[in-house]
Amino acid sequence: MVPDKTALDIAGAVALLRQGELVAIPTETVYGLGADAANVAAVAKIFAAKQRPADHPLIVHIAGIEQLELWAQEIPSFAWKLAEHFWPGSLTLILPRSAKVPDIVTGGQDTVGLRVPAHPITLELLKQFGSGISAPSANRFGHISATTPQHVRAEFGNEMAILDGGPCSVGIESTIIDCSGKAPVLLRPGGIDAERIIEILGMELGTASTHSPKVSGSLASHYAPRTPLLLVSGDQLEAAIAATLAKGQRCGILARKTVNASSSIVCIAAAQNAHEYARHLYSRLRELDEMKLDCLIIEAPPRTGEWLAINDRLKRAAFSEN
Ligand code: TXA
Ligand code: MG
Repeated sequence: MVPDKTALDIAGAVALLRQGELVAIPTETVYGLGADAANVAAVAKIFAAKQRPADHPLIVHIAGIEQLELWAQEIPSFAWKLAEHFWPGSLTLILPRSAKVPDIVTGGQDTVGLRVPAHPITLELLKQFGSGISAPSANRFGHISATTPQHVRAEFGNEMAILDGGPCSVGIESTIIDCSGKAPVLLRPGGIDAERIIEILGMELGTASTHSPKVSGSLASHYAPRTPLLLVSGDQLEAAIAATLAKGQRCGILARKTVNASSSIVCIAAAQNAHEYARHLYSRLRELDEMKLDCLIIEAPPRTGEWLAINDRLKRAAFSEN
């Protein structure tokens, strides 16, 4: 029987995955575009749907730490410690891959990214499916990630099967730690603060070098809306708004401080707290992008540790090669 894609339940999602089909899955960070990680043809559909280059590896989601050794090998003690402490949760570990991982998942690299997501529906899905699910963020390559089923539809249309888990509670992608070398390296700041990881490990994190594995989220331009985006500090905000208004442009603003209203600006008040800010970030960017304004101006948040992942996403969303 073909599962009903418009009212998909866990059993229907399992059936689609077993048939080699894609299913968008909820996680606590962002929605993922999932496929059976052991099925090469199914994983190929992810790359086609996302228009993602083949050399950008995918994270394999697993049901629990007990599955770690099925997918990875030569796991150092610091990686075990992180998995035990933070899984299920917003932490991806990069480890030497096992023979079970198809080349297509890792983009030919000899490491694999693994994560146990903390969303109850997807955890149950993983348990019932009984194997790994490869899933990148459910957005077109380089575009804003999806944190609601509506966002996934806006990216991929009505044909995409979506397991509805409501809005994501964390709102930005997982923190990625490379555990394939002698010491842990932070490849992508994310849902779990680097400080908390350092605290649990009792050791510092290295920073990514040119030898580190490739992370597409580390490209200069990523997570980007289609409207040009300017990131400015709080004390430059008024001047930046005045300059765009002087050019006769209509602009959207996402700011933590209060901005004087005008008919040519749309202002969205951003959260003061970093976790709240992260939870709503991609929704706010999408809302502003849909208004088809001439430009977006975002007030850069503070530079302290809890804002690291948010600043990283905003910087890449604002980057333009022109
Ligand atoms: O929160 C998340 O991590 C979400 C949810 C769906 O789990 N997933 C996500 O996937 O953000 P994606 O593909 O958009 O970003 C995963 C990043 C990519 O930049 C990829 O390059 C990196 O993880 N990655 C995956 N496997 C890797 C590997 N073996 N070595 C280095 N980087 C890897
Ligand atoms: Mg992504």
